[in-house]
Amino acid sequence: MQNRQGKPESCYDHPRFYELAFAFRDIPREVEVIERTIALHARREVKQFLNLACGPSPHMITLSRRNLEFQGLDISPAMLQYSRQKAGDAGIHALFHQQSMVDFRLDRPVDYVFIALGDWYVRSSLELKQHLCAVAEALRPGGLFLLDWCIQFEPATMFKPEGDAWEMKDADAAVQCRVVMKPFNHPEQLFEERLDITVRANEGSFDLSSHSVKRAVYPQEFLELITSMGQFEFIGWWNNWNLDDPLTESTENIFRPITLLRRVA
Ligand SMILES: C[S@@+](CC[C@H](N)C(=O)[O-])C[C@H]1O[C@@H](n2cnc3c(N)ncnc32)[C@H](O)[C@@H]1O
Repeated sequence: MQNRQGKPESCYDHPRFYELAFAFRDIPREVEVIERTIALHARREVKQFLNLACGPSPHMITLSRRNLEFQGLDISPAMLQYSRQKAGDAGIHALFHQQSMVDFRLDRPVDYVFIALGDWYVRSSLELKQHLCAVAEALRPGGLFLLDWCIQFEPATMFKPEGDAWEMKDADAAVQCRVVMKPFNHPEQLFEERLDITVRANEGSFDLSSHSVKRAVYPQEFLELITSMGQFEFIGWWNNWNLDDPLTESTENIFRPITLLRRVA
């Protein structure tokens, strides 16, 4: 599908195919890990759960079945509309906010904040600080902040030039996907992330593409920042969504690391 300039439309304007592209995740297992972080590390009852850059809200239905009240925040009206519809179809009460994760504000604080699959859209040190202040403001004392694959444990220079490619399909569509991450401004720690999806579906074959710029955040600078802010306690980081596998000096092959913070009382 092409826009008026003859370029592929954005992946984010086609939530259904975006969702299929990333349906390789074991969502029930991830929700079990989230529940375990609550049981082990929350210092308050956790009811309201906020997913930043929620996109099609893949965790929403499973979380709601476990009695967590889902809220999704995203800048894309198409993604929010898709998530709203999904909640309605499943008979779930969920709240959605159309705001940027950089400087969002909620009317009422939540008990848990989650960012999935590296969806950390901060483009500078200033935006990173603004974002962390916004999360601190949105999170009740004793609540948790979980970041999935957001911290860069490997330097950006190790990104593969050809990126990662994979395919997914369901009964009505097949998608071929590629993500390429390319560092382009080392002093500012910026990298470009490009997602291309080729869709073959009942409605035809077409290409979708999206492009974003992110600031890489490395582990030790993250810890320094968190400590200097004084609003979060660092709880830990673990490899591949496994709370029994903390990242240590001997960890190799880091994949989908998760990092957990707690809002100080
Ligand atoms: C990769 S998709 C979301 C994926 C979703 N978190 C998941 O787990 O499948 C990225 C989403 O981030 C949203 N996004 C990009 N920049 C954002 C920002 N500054 N604030 C909030 N959402 C943003 C896009 O609109 C898009 O829906």
